[in-house]
Amino acid sequence: MNLDDYRSDNLANWNDRVRVHTGPDGYDLDGFASDPERLSDVVAFDRTYLGDVAGLTLVHPQCHIGTDTLSWAKLGATVTGIDFSPPALETARDLAHRLDIDATFIESELYAIPHAVTEEFDVVYTGVGAINWLPDIVGWAEVMAHLTKPGGRFYMREGHPVLLALDYERGDDLLVISEPYFETEIPGTWDEPQSYAGSGTLEHTITHEWNHGLGEVINALITAGFRIELVEEHRFLEWLALPQMIRTGDRYELPPHLRDHVPLMYSLLATRTV
Ligand SMILES: C[S@@+](CC[C@H](N)C(=O)[O-])C[C@H]1O[C@@H](n2cnc3c(N)ncnc32)[C@H](O)[C@@H]1O
Repeated sequence: MNLDDYRSDNLANWNDRVRVHTGPDGYDLDGFASDPERLSDVVAFDRTYLGDVAGLTLVHPQCHIGTDTLSWAKLGATVTGIDFSPPALETARDLAHRLDIDATFIESELYAIPHAVTEEFDVVYTGVGAINWLPDIVGWAEVMAHLTKPGGRFYMREGHPVLLALDYERGDDLLVISEPYFETEIPGTWDEPQSYAGSGTLEHTITHEWNHGLGEVINALITAGFRIELVEEHRFLEWLALPQMIRTGDRYELPPHLRDHVPLMYSLLATRTV
């Protein structure tokens, strides 16, 4: 298989996920659309890192169905979402329309963004299951720099690469590394009929994903022209990644005796150097 094959399997899977995520037990789009104050849980957390976005232009690559993107609009930003999935963008546009928010949603594959978007933004926001779909973190960081104004802010929050390298099928207490931590040419291939949200079943079940070490991500951003302001590793996650995890409110954590053993997510804040 080549990169085009990997990408088309992933696109078919993400197109399918829109139906599942907007169906039973999926994202609560009616609740989100009916309350102009309501933010996605993801943005409710990330706003403490990114600070005030009112009056700023903000772009969200890999925006999915727009709940995070439009949460930033509810906080006063002028938002643009980008994704390669046409049904995801249709859902995002419909949601913007229901909220009477003037948002722009652009269809583009991540690495094609420099051809599709020439504007530079005050804020670039991405993450929570974004870079694991991408084969080349150096090329990704160049796209992030392309989108950020000199002096502009960049923020991401992602699943931690140590977590993504763990064997997630063990029923015991051992945290065992079974997958690559560093970026590899050949992705991990998975076959899963369910998504992380929604009770419906996927038709296109095959996905291909890449891990990217924390140092690889940080160095790619520095080389692309960012100054790193903060990297913070978190003890919580927004999805059930390991059977040992316990639910605390709307998040998942490892049980107390494992809580300090591995980081589950990280936040990274950077500024594009002038
Ligand atoms: C987990 S979602 C991002 C999550 C977002 N935080 C949410 O849950 O609403 C990942 C997104 O990446 C998009 N994606 C995956 N591979 C892509 C690629 N190569 N180019 C552009 N978008 C891509 C998918 O369509 C999907 O919408």
